[in-house]
Amino acid sequence: MTKQYKVAVIGCGMFANAQYLPNITKEANAVCVAVVDIVKERAEAAAAKYAVPEVYENVYELIEKCDFDIAIDAASIQAHHEINMAVLASGRHLISQKPAAPTVELLTEQIELAKKMGVKFACVPVHPMRYDLAIAKDLIKKDAIGVPYYAKCNMSHGGPEYFQYREADPSWFFEPGAGALVDMGVHGLQIVTSLFGPAKAFSCMAKVTTPERMVRSGAFDGKMIKTDMLPDQYVICLDYGEGKMAMVDTGFSQKASRAPQLEIFGERGTLSFTRPYMSNPAPDLYIDSIDMGLKGWIVPEMPAKPPKKMISQCCCLFDIIDAIENDKSPVLSPEHARHVLEIMCKIPEAIEKGVTIKLETTF
Ligand SMILES: NC(=O)c1ccc[n+]([C@@H]2O[C@H](COP(=O)([O-])OP(=O)(O)OC[C@H]3O[C@@H](n4cnc5c(N)ncnc54)[C@H](O)[C@@H]3O)[C@@H](O)[C@H]2O)c1
Repeated sequence: MTKQYKVAVIGCGMFANAQYLPNITKEANAVCVAVVDIVKERAEAAAAKYAVPEVYENVYELIEKCDFDIAIDAASIQAHHEINMAVLASGRHLISQKPAAPTVELLTEQIELAKKMGVKFACVPVHPMRYDLAIAKDLIKKDAIGVPYYAKCNMSHGGPEYFQYREADPSWFFEPGAGALVDMGVHGLQIVTSLFGPAKAFSCMAKVTTPERMVRSGAFDGKMIKTDMLPDQYVICLDYGEGKMAMVDTGFSQKASRAPQLEIFGERGTLSFTRPYMSNPAPDLYIDSIDMGLKGWIVPEMPAKPPKKMISQCCCLFDIIDAIENDKSPVLSPEHARHVLEIMCKIPEAIEKGVTIKLETTF
């Protein structure tokens, strides 16, 4: 990386403060030149804490007045599409928090605009950059577990009002446009599609388990919020045809769990992910081989050229700069995000009609 990239962070809430602002200089040859938040005090607090020179109240002011190369959209979910279109139209590279748009059509508009403007566009979450998933893919490629036929992903927590410390009011997470599916389900769907590729069809059941919740920390500690507008527990089954499927168990309804976040089952073994992925562990490997006289959990040898380890979820900055400098697609591709979005957008229909829905997008 030759040039030092100028980054603007839009939305200075929990995630920007936890993952982006402290890690921009660590992940790439980059510096944060501006912060933006519609709540100005939040942007000012972030600027003071991370020595960011410029503060703006909205994306349009940022675009008009600031000299920056890459924007990270870390605002509330409902604000992403408008912010993303504005950034892309200004000819800047963009990393969008999930989901980047509320519909497949609107995300396609963003993808087309990025192409037209000749800029790079990356969509998080960052699972396709994970060390443990890269090791798993390498082991699958080397036939360690034979043909993989089932992936089971458990991607839940107890809810943003319970699980995370928050200075901003978390009520918006439960309102239309947001919800457990697009906030948590997106992770599980991105993980299994990273491993198995685009799905052919899916079915889903979902329930509202907790219609009212109490905020448990931060500035809004004790506030009661209405949480019955959208389901908060989903079980999604993905069909890959020919004896292959995946299941994503996701939502805001699991205060604690000891289930592995992910397991991949194959004809000859299992890959199990039992440790936090940010600590860059290798997955556990079980092999049943009659030829080798081997049946049990083993420690796999690392590949000769091990994948890059993650420092933080700001690794998406490394990805987009790599894409800019080598004129290639980012690993965190918006087409992958669009496939995941198609599933999420069609889930209400699958629940309502109790049917399996075919998928059209791919990546
Ligand atoms: N592991 C993960 O990948 C992960 C975890 C948590 C949150 N997130 C995502 O990060 C994003 C932010 O979540 P959060 O937990 O930080 O929420 P938050 O409520 O703490 O912060 C959101 C911030 O965006 C600001 N904002 C809203 N609309 C805006 C606009 N139009 N322009 C500028 N600022 C605006 C709000 O004032 C607030 O400060 C969401 O997309 C969420 O899904 C990702």
